[in-house]
Amino acid sequence: MVQEIKNICCIGAGYVGGPTMSVIADNCPHIKVNVVDNNFERIKLWNSANLDNLPIFEPGLDKIIKKRRGKNLTFSTKIREKISSADMIFISVNTPTKTKGFGAGEASDLKWVEACAREVARFATDHTIVVEKSTLPVKTAEVIKNILEASQPNSVDKCKSFDVLSNPEFLAEGSAIKDLENPDRVLIGGESNEAILALNNVYRNWVEQDKILHTNIWSSELSKLTANAFLAQRISSINSISALCESTGADVREVSRAIGLDSRIGSKFLNSGPGFGGSCFKKDILNLVYLSKFFGLSEVANFWEGVVKLNNWHQHRLSKLISQKLFGTISGKKICILGFAFKANTNDTRESAAINICKDLLEEGAFLNIHDPKVSKEQIRNDLGIESLDSANNYSEKLDFFNFEGKWVFEDSIYNAAEKSDALVILTEWEQYKKINWANISKKMRKPSWIFDVRSILDPKDIIPHDLRLWRIGDGSNNH
Ligand code: NAD
Ligand code: UGA
Repeated sequence: MVQEIKNICCIGAGYVGGPTMSVIADNCPHIKVNVVDNNFERIKLWNSANLDNLPIFEPGLDKIIKKRRGKNLTFSTKIREKISSADMIFISVNTPTKTKGFGAGEASDLKWVEACAREVARFATDHTIVVEKSTLPVKTAEVIKNILEASQPNSVDKCKSFDVLSNPEFLAEGSAIKDLENPDRVLIGGESNEAILALNNVYRNWVEQDKILHTNIWSSELSKLTANAFLAQRISSINSISALCESTGADVREVSRAIGLDSRIGSKFLNSGPGFGGSCFKKDILNLVYLSKFFGLSEVANFWEGVVKLNNWHQHRLSKLISQKLFGTISGKKICILGFAFKANTNDTRESAAINICKDLLEEGAFLNIHDPKVSKEQIRNDLGIESLDSANNYSEKLDFFNFEGKWVFEDSIYNAAEKSDALVILTEWEQYKKINWANISKKMRKPSWIFDVRSILDPKDIIPHDLRLWRIGDGSNNH
């Protein structure tokens, strides 16, 4: 018989757990949705009265939280209590790349997933469906199942039983709510038809049946890694071509358009930029590399590893290029960095290309003024591993920056950040950077002033008349 789900617990209140559960709660008012996390500070922020203080910025999320929080959606650290009352438990914790031990640098670290499985094994009651929402290597469901089954004979409650499903999440940050409300597909992998249908019926509250795919559990796990690997591969492919465009006189925008009109290729994910960032592409490809090596498929491993190598090379290529354009030296020069998040519409900086690029520029002795509308100064400090100078010191009044080599300051205003700078580098495609008043900026910058449009969001016609030199990614003419 198919179980009717009335009480969901999600372990992990992060970029996936928070938005995913909010959308479930919104579309299923008859289901209680309890999101739990062992990070007390994060939970406190999820419960903030001021919705600007939610721990993650995601367009549309605040409205749903306002509507559902305290009704059928809760955020707490009561992990055990919420596990025991749930009939379906989502595991949505982080699965970063291992930093030590076997598979270090490639395999995913499953210690948080395993810890959750142990908690579920101890505190679940009756029949519980455990859903892998985290991105996991193939065969992790088996590990979870083993842990759950091992708990049964000795448990106080001998009636408890489990099914394990894989239900990978395909949302992209910055468009998470849209992606969750109108997914291209929902994937459910599992062995038990009843369990698959129970989860299927939760999604049926807002997703059409023909978008919900049922597969075996290993296909589901592997599809998630494969989807990310294919997406990342497109970006490395187009970024490799951007370098060739710059050398040959071609224009990567024209090439993207020309190839994207081929319906077999498609037009999405062909924007050349500073290289892919985000918490998952690199980690998931490296996981695929590890699995391939594990199964003795070294050619397959090398193929996918190339996607990550190209991405790293591309980021360092850009920092070198900025330095070369500024007469081969950036030491003591002021460079204004616009955007630190790994993409627009998120405050997430994990694996952001800005981290590598800024580190390279700082190492070369540049003084950076960094602006981002959603990323905090503290986050940038953690990512760069260098304390910021105090912005109250008004560095814009200084005449030169030789005393500030390798230092950086956080700026709230784009125009202050540009004051007396030699270059301005756009690293994130925030809407507000498309509306900059270039006449104003030009007056503030030191001459010759360079604009590096690494996201290709500017129209040269808006820049050139203002005595600014423009470099655009993948633009073979680059002599604007
Ligand atoms: P995250 O780091 O933002 O959130 C994970 C949360 O889990 C943290 O708040 C952490 O405190 C909590 N946690 C860890 N161990 C715990 C435990 N034992 N008990 C309770 N709480 C615990 O991570 P995320 O970005 O939400 O990603 C989660 C998973 O989803 C990863 O496997 C990731 O690959 C996958 N994924 C992420 C995205 C994305 O866009 N971020 C998209 C699809 C899939
Ligand atoms: C990506 C996938 O798109 C999601 O489907 C997946 O669920 C998620 O990873 C995950 O598993 O974590 P996300 O990392 O949030 O989502 O963001 P994307 O929109 O995919 O962008 C990733 C990176 O690629 C960003 O740095 C972005 O700027 C870059 N990108 C994207 C480009 O440089 N060019 C493009 O054309 C598209």
